[in-house]
Amino acid sequence: MKGFQIRRKPLAHLMRDAGDDHGPKLKQVLTAKDVFFHGVAAIIGAGIFVYLGAGAGLAGPGVVLSFAVCGIVCTLVGLAFAELASMISVSGSAYTYAYASIDERAAWAIGWDLLLEYSLGSAAVAVGWSAYLQHTLSGMGISLPAHLAQAPTHLPWQDIGVTAMLLVSGVAALIWSLSDKHKQSGALRGLVLFGGGVACLAGLKEAAMVATQLHSINLPAFLIIGFLSLCLYLGVHHTARMTEIFVWVKVAVIVVFLGCAVWYFKTENFTPLMPMGFWGVLGGAGVVFFAFIGFDAVTTLAEECKNPQTDMPRGVLGSLWVCTAIYMAVAAVGVGAVHYTGLVNAAPIASVLNAIGYNSIVPLLSVGALAGLTSVLIVLLFGQSRIMMRMSKDGLVSPVFGVIGHKRQTPHWAILIMGTAAALAAGFMDINELAHLTNVGTLAAFVIVCVGVIWLRKSEPNAVRKFRCPGMPWIPALGAVSCLGLMFTLPHDSQIRFVIWMAVGFAIYYCYGYWHSKERPVKSN
Ligand code: ALA
Repeated sequence: MKGFQIRRKPLAHLMRDAGDDHGPKLKQVLTAKDVFFHGVAAIIGAGIFVYLGAGAGLAGPGVVLSFAVCGIVCTLVGLAFAELASMISVSGSAYTYAYASIDERAAWAIGWDLLLEYSLGSAAVAVGWSAYLQHTLSGMGISLPAHLAQAPTHLPWQDIGVTAMLLVSGVAALIWSLSDKHKQSGALRGLVLFGGGVACLAGLKEAAMVATQLHSINLPAFLIIGFLSLCLYLGVHHTARMTEIFVWVKVAVIVVFLGCAVWYFKTENFTPLMPMGFWGVLGGAGVVFFAFIGFDAVTTLAEECKNPQTDMPRGVLGSLWVCTAIYMAVAAVGVGAVHYTGLVNAAPIASVLNAIGYNSIVPLLSVGALAGLTSVLIVLLFGQSRIMMRMSKDGLVSPVFGVIGHKRQTPHWAILIMGTAAALAAGFMDINELAHLTNVGTLAAFVIVCVGVIWLRKSEPNAVRKFRCPGMPWIPALGAVSCLGLMFTLPHDSQIRFVIWMAVGFAIYYCYGYWHSKERPVKSN
């Protein structure tokens, strides 16, 4: 088709970019064990400690099946991820895979989508973290003032949109006019400089107006993201050790929960198994899908692994299966111990322990939940900075996001800028809004990954694949269809917001990425 030119990044270019970059590189310090721990760290969090309640409300005791459905869907997608990760050991995850297999626009769509997954996902987890912190503090008789404890009930979205547009266009115009890389006339540059300055001033005025309309903030959620972004800024090796400790704590807490509640298990609590029918189970799966988000984030570590080709498939699938088993066990034991209606709240595991008389363990559980949620936050925040860094190295977003500091060898601007965006979302948005939007975005990204693995088998049949997805093309095709199905179980509002997010993304791509991309169109023979 004339006018539409494919831009793809051949595998050879990907590996060259990762290997031959001059300047500081990411440290290759992570082992298979670290990858597995990162997987468990990313997966077990708000999904089980918070969303199990919402899932039980939709599916009844069938929430156990909802977890199974998600486990199967994610395994289908995980097999596709594992093949791609074993071929393309470059940070950037699904974004990089789409770039190699389909086209730059698909890569942009997925990268933009993953930013939504990691940024809003981490914000949703931070809000859950704040809820558990406040629960623990209230047990000690401490409570935060209401205006610091939760997000505002209403956000002036229109004004926020206008502010963002003015500031982004103003800053872009200033950078363009002050850059000495182009040869435009002085008069044009002066005009753009003036326009950029006016847009920035108007944006700041609008931002001040928005600020006067925000009467409350979820301060703990805002601060935890700020703090962890700072830790990531200081270096991946430290966070890997911290993550490992948190993983042990959260798994220990879950084992204690299972050990206490299993003795109260009653089979009659499973009758009827699906009070809301199979659609209820699917609706529950759409919600508890949040519990699985992050298994793909592990693939953003590829460039920092000692042996990415073998560590990646093991890490992705191993952590996914272990976590699915843990989720099903927790849901089954929880519903078995207490009628499912007793779980329909924001702290379902704590409420089961309260109901069976283990009140003294609840504070311990809250501490474990805080550790678990912290580990999820670390991996998601890590993932978002790495995606941004990769997109920047490919020329699709500003080079600022790709700068790796000489001293700490981390992409510090990407960490700080993306961390600030996630902290703002955590401080000012509602947890359900955040989680639903995250789920829709992630499922959309998974669809493209499944298509990408099929495509790449055709376009690069001879590339070295240390792991091959079985049942080609049916397994990834089924993965794509089931992700699409789950997307449609989520609220329409979230689907519409997702479409708006993607439209904004493509506007940015055609204004910037398309022109600065380092790849040239693929020539047809
Ligand atoms: N899967 C992660 C969680 O449940 C995002 O918190």
